Amino acid sequence: MAKQVTAIVLAAGLGTRMKSHKPKVLHAAAGRTLIDHVIGQLSGAGVNRFRVVVGHGGDTVKQHLWGKPGVDFFLQAEQRGTADAVRAAQVESIESTTLIVNGDHPLILSDDYLAALESLDATKSDLVFVSSIVKRPKGFGRVVRDKKGQLKEIVEEKDASPAQKKIREVNSGLYVAKKGVLAKLLPLVKNNNAKKEFYLTDIISMALKLKMKVHVHPGASRVGRGVNTLEELASASKLLYLRKARELMAEGVVIVDPAFTYIDGDVKVGEGTVIGPGTMLASGTQIGKNCRIDGYTYVRASKIGDHVELRWGSHVDLSEIRDQAIIGPYARLRPESIVEREAHVGNFVELKKAILGARSKANHLTYLGDAEIGEDTNIGCGTITCNYAVDRKKYKTKIGKNVFVGSDSQFVAPVQVGDGAIIASGSTITEDVPAHALAVARSRQVIKNDYNKE
Ligand code: UD1
Ligand code: MG
Repeated sequence: MAKQVTAIVLAAGLGTRMKSHKPKVLHAAAGRTLIDHVIGQLSGAGVNRFRVVVGHGGDTVKQHLWGKPGVDFFLQAEQRGTADAVRAAQVESIESTTLIVNGDHPLILSDDYLAALESLDATKSDLVFVSSIVKRPKGFGRVVRDKKGQLKEIVEEKDASPAQKKIREVNSGLYVAKKGVLAKLLPLVKNNNAKKEFYLTDIISMALKLKMKVHVHPGASRVGRGVNTLEELASASKLLYLRKARELMAEGVVIVDPAFTYIDGDVKVGEGTVIGPGTMLASGTQIGKNCRIDGYTYVRASKIGDHVELRWGSHVDLSEIRDQAIIGPYARLRPESIVEREAHVGNFVELKKAILGARSKANHLTYLGDAEIGEDTNIGCGTITCNYAVDRKKYKTKIGKNVFVGSDSQFVAPVQVGDGAIIASGSTITEDVPAHALAVARSRQVIKNDYNKE
C-alpha cells in the first residue's frame, strides 16, 4: 500500500450483549483480543496510524494497547452511536484517506482491508463501504437498493421494515473515505431513529444526497462477522482456529482433527509434525519438524525442537524442549524448564526452573524444581528435589552427569552431586556428594527373626 491511511477503530461501545464487565474488544478469540486481531491485520495491510475510540472500560483498553506504535486514543465520553464515535476521533484533523472499522470484527484479513482501500481509487469514489452477503442478516444494517439496484441507504435492524429485514446484503461496518469526506458528512448525521443514536450508516444516504460517489465493495462474509455475544465470540474462535489449521496443513503439518485443535495465530509448526486431537498450542510457541503431539496437550510460549514426542496429556509452559526428547504421557513442564536433546520426561513428572541434560531420564513420578541435571543421568522413580525451605526461600539442587539416582530419593536443597555419583535408593541427601561416590542416606534394615511367630 503506497499512500498514507489513518484507521479509526471503534472500541467504545458498551457491549451489552456480551453480559460481561470486561470491555468487549478485550475478549479473546483464538487466544488474541478482538482489537489485537483488528490492529494486527490492519498493520499487515500497511496501515500504521490508528485512532482508537475508547469509552466504556476505556482505561483498560488503553492499558492493553499502551505503547503500540502508531496508536492514539480518543475518548467518546458517552456512547451515543457509531457516528458519534467517529466524530470523537477528530476527523477534521486527518490529512489522509481514512478507514473505519469496528473493533469487534476479528475475522477481517489484511487482504480484505487492502481490497477495500484499493477500490476507493479504482472506482474514483469519495466513500466506500464493504457489504457482505450473509445467511442470517438479523442484527445487521441492511443495504437497501432501488429497483434498478442503485444504492439508496443502509437501514439498521430496529428501523427496518419487514421487507427490508429479508435483505441478506448487509453492512460489514468497514468504510474507506477520501480525505475530508467524513468531516463534511458527520455533522449532518441526526439521531432520529429507533435507538436515538447517531448512526454512522447514515453517512451513506447523506453522501448520495450531496452527489458524492459511493461505492459498495462486495466483501467476503468474514468481513461482516462481528462479535456481539459470547456465542459469536466462540464461533469466531472456531473459525480462527480452523483458518490456522488449514494454513498449517497447507505447509505440511498433519492435523488429525482440525475441528478439535486449537492453535493460536502466531504459533509456528514445522513440516511433518503430527498434531493429535485436543491439542492447544498457545501464543509464543514454536514447534520443530517431524514432532509427534499425541493430543490433549497444552503448550504455551515454548520452543520445541525437531523429532520431539509430546505424549498424551502433557502440559508445557514457557519452556524449551530440544531435538528428539520425549515428554509424557502426563508430564508437566512449568516455566523456565529446559529438556535437552534426547532426554526423557515420563509420566507424572513435574519440572520447574529445571534443566534436564542431554539423554538424561526422569521417567516416573518425580519433582525437579530449581534443579540442574547433567547429561546421561538417570533420575529414579519418585525422586524429589526439596527446593522450598522453612525460611520460605527456594534453593537449588545440582546433579552432575552420569549420575545414578536410585528410586525414592530426596535432595534437600541447596545440595550438589558430583559427576558419576550413585545415590542409593530411598536416600534423603542433605549434604553434597563428591564425584564418583556412593551416597547411602537411609536407615539400615533391621531383621528381627520370628518377631511375628504364630
Ligand atoms: C454496526 C452497524 C451495522 C453493521 C454492524 C456490523 C451502525 C449504526 N451499525 O452495528 O450497520 O451491520 O455494525 O457488525 O453503525 N461503538 C462505539 N461507540 C458507540 C457505539 C458503538 O465506539 O457509541 C463501537 C463498538 O464498540 C463496536 C462498533 O462501534 O466496536 C460497532 O458497534 P455495535 O454496537 O457492535 O454495532 P452493531 O449493532 O454491531
Ligand atoms: Mg457489532
